[in-house]
Amino acid sequence: MSAARVIDGKHVASTVIRRVKRAADQLERTSGVKPGLAVVIVGDDPASHTYVGAKSRMARECGFASIQRTLPAETTQEELASVVQSLNDDPSIHGILVQLPLPKPLQSDLIIQSILPEKDVDGLHVVNAGKLATGDLETGLVSCTPAGAMVFVRRSHGNDLSGLNAVVIGRSNLFGKPMAQLLLSADATVTMAHSRTKNLPQVCRNADILVAAVGRPEMVKTDWIKPGATVIDVGINRIDAPENGEGKTRLVGDVAFKECAEIADVITPVPGGVGPMTIAMLMANTVIAACRANGIAPPRFYDTEI
Ligand code: GUN
Repeated sequence: MSAARVIDGKHVASTVIRRVKRAADQLERTSGVKPGLAVVIVGDDPASHTYVGAKSRMARECGFASIQRTLPAETTQEELASVVQSLNDDPSIHGILVQLPLPKPLQSDLIIQSILPEKDVDGLHVVNAGKLATGDLETGLVSCTPAGAMVFVRRSHGNDLSGLNAVVIGRSNLFGKPMAQLLLSADATVTMAHSRTKNLPQVCRNADILVAAVGRPEMVKTDWIKPGATVIDVGINRIDAPENGEGKTRLVGDVAFKECAEIADVITPVPGGVGPMTIAMLMANTVIAACRANGIAPPRFYDTEI
């Protein structure tokens, strides 16, 4: 068995970003409108600040109006709700993202559901989740990481997944559930596996497309993989790496990359796989929202090969 083709997530993301920039440019020329993205972060979790910084930087690079609201950890539910309300009311803002997790005791669900669905570029509002579940990719917004993972799937298998078995490990609202819906919309036969699934390795061995989003470092082993499968790794886990020196750490996915690459046909690395696509699809969602708000047909990102 030859080694798998390793997907270069940065390269694929740059293709998405090119399409986003073209659409933003066209929107500004025809309507005089710049896509506006607001990112809200509460508290001082360093990893969240790193992600949010990357999102704001990419928004500026795409030619968007990018604003960041940084709020202290002691922010109350009412204060945060009022920030979201003011962004809902601001016509220059087309996309709102509240970085998760929120510090305790803030209730993230109340906040997420208070974002206008047409500005919910995370695709987490029940209206957007419902549109995806009913197969409406035309008017809703799709959660960024599954939308990005789906770009990889389409690059390997095309738009029609008829006859292919897909297994998604993980059932979160942010990833597992929308990922399964996207695969189903493309006519794959989908199994959602999770921590209570019996014989998980055996279930996974049936997958032509295996998507892992469990948050357990290198849990998926070589004997879980069907020879020739496409393996998408959505995990980002920081583990100790004493081999790199005392106190050093490194990032790994949910898939034991080296051994699984021996048997898969296509595989995504961590880092440099799904991660860059999440940011690219956030930009895509923002330009889609801005085009829709101005009565212009947005480019397609969810259901075509990119
Ligand atoms: N935290 C980690 N990933 C995400 C994401 O995709 N969206 C939001 N809002 N917060 C996150």
